[in-house]
Amino acid sequence: MKLTIIGTGYVGLVTGACFAEVGHHVVCVDCDEAKVKMLRAGGMPIYEPGLEELVKKNVEAGRLSFTASTQEGVEKSDVIFIAVPTPPMPDGSVDLSFIERVAREIASSMTSYKIIVDKSTVPVKTGDKVAETIKRYCKAKVDFDVASNPEFLREGFAVDDLMHPDRVVIGVRSQRPVQAMKDIYTPFNAPIIVTDINSAELIKHAANSFLALKISYINAVSVICEATGANVQEVANGMGMDNRIGRRFLDASLGFGGSCFPKDLSAFIQISEQLGYDFSLLKEVQRINDGQMDRFIKKIIETLWVLKGKKIGVLGLAFKQNTDDVRMSPAIELCHRLQKEGAILRVYDPKAMEKAKAVLKDVTYVDKMNDVAEGCDALVIATEWPEFKKLDLERARKVLTHPILFDGRNLFDVKEMEALGFIYKSIGR
Ligand code: UGA
Repeated sequence: MKLTIIGTGYVGLVTGACFAEVGHHVVCVDCDEAKVKMLRAGGMPIYEPGLEELVKKNVEAGRLSFTASTQEGVEKSDVIFIAVPTPPMPDGSVDLSFIERVAREIASSMTSYKIIVDKSTVPVKTGDKVAETIKRYCKAKVDFDVASNPEFLREGFAVDDLMHPDRVVIGVRSQRPVQAMKDIYTPFNAPIIVTDINSAELIKHAANSFLALKISYINAVSVICEATGANVQEVANGMGMDNRIGRRFLDASLGFGGSCFPKDLSAFIQISEQLGYDFSLLKEVQRINDGQMDRFIKKIIETLWVLKGKKIGVLGLAFKQNTDDVRMSPAIELCHRLQKEGAILRVYDPKAMEKAKAVLKDVTYVDKMNDVAEGCDALVIATEWPEFKKLDLERARKVLTHPILFDGRNLFDVKEMEALGFIYKSIGR
């Protein structure tokens, strides 16, 4: 099928590449001409495992192309996906100006029937607004349908999540676009749920908020574990073996971050408030999440006492493993909090250092993981990169002025670390 994706961020670019991979002809549109130029030249604006190869392969096969012209994108396809950012406003509500602008641009370029599909995460009832906008700005007065098709991919695992989705959700206002939407997803062999647009939009906010709730739940349990000498990983394993609960997203941490959970929680709370419901459960999820960072900083201060002038090595800057994304990264917040206390930082991340440089100043960026601890008073693990498990612990113990390691991601075994001579503080253990 001929498909257009507007927006080449983490969702749009991966979706475009995966649609092309299963045989569709895809045009990716981005208003940032420099980005389009970069993509055309084979460059990658983001790091996502497997993405570069996938883009290259499908561009060479003639199934994937890039343009800065929305009009070209609209002319070339019958189905247009919107995958532009929906960033948070200062009050927690969602900035829908990118969606509105793209809806207007699509409308003014339409000369025949199109299906306009929203893939960005949006508040419930946005589909209605998109439909109204298109109707208003469509010069040719042609027929169109609006659909909602929320995306559930995780950064760092995006290609795999998109190629093997648990389910595909399609929200529609009439039956007309259903078959085309199903045809797009048939090659992915996943269950397809067809529902109304409001439900589809809500599925996304409800799912993300529930996952965030799961993390806050285990983080709250980690507090009780620390107070009693229990081990949160053992508790999570025991809970997770119940199929009704499941083990995934039960890893205690210094809190969740990223461009989705914090934003979607605030948005869902706001939306509920506007509908007259105080979703206090979700406010508690946020409170617990903020508390994790506070408790972790407190642990560092309790151990090192005065941080002013102390050298601290930080492993991890991305908001999670396998990504270069530092938006709302707990690791960056941790660095800022340590700097506020006067600590001097040496930092390392396998992929996120370039992006971190824009938001984290006055630190030493170290090129190699094993060099970070050099001359530091303590080492902190802030991101769950699997390669941090291969840290040369013998060397770290020798080059640290004191063998102190704070692990915000529970990567090491407590007993083994103590046997190696570390003062080792982690989460809920
Ligand atoms: C999340 C959802 O998992 C995706 O399904 C969704 O499509 C996406 O948001 C989105 O709305 O676009 P993402 O933000 O990429 O994906 O990353 P996650 O893997 O969900 O991790 C989010 C945060 O939670 C990270 O900071 C991670 O370190 C933390 N986390 C995750 C924990 O602290 N503990 C866990 O057990 C799992």
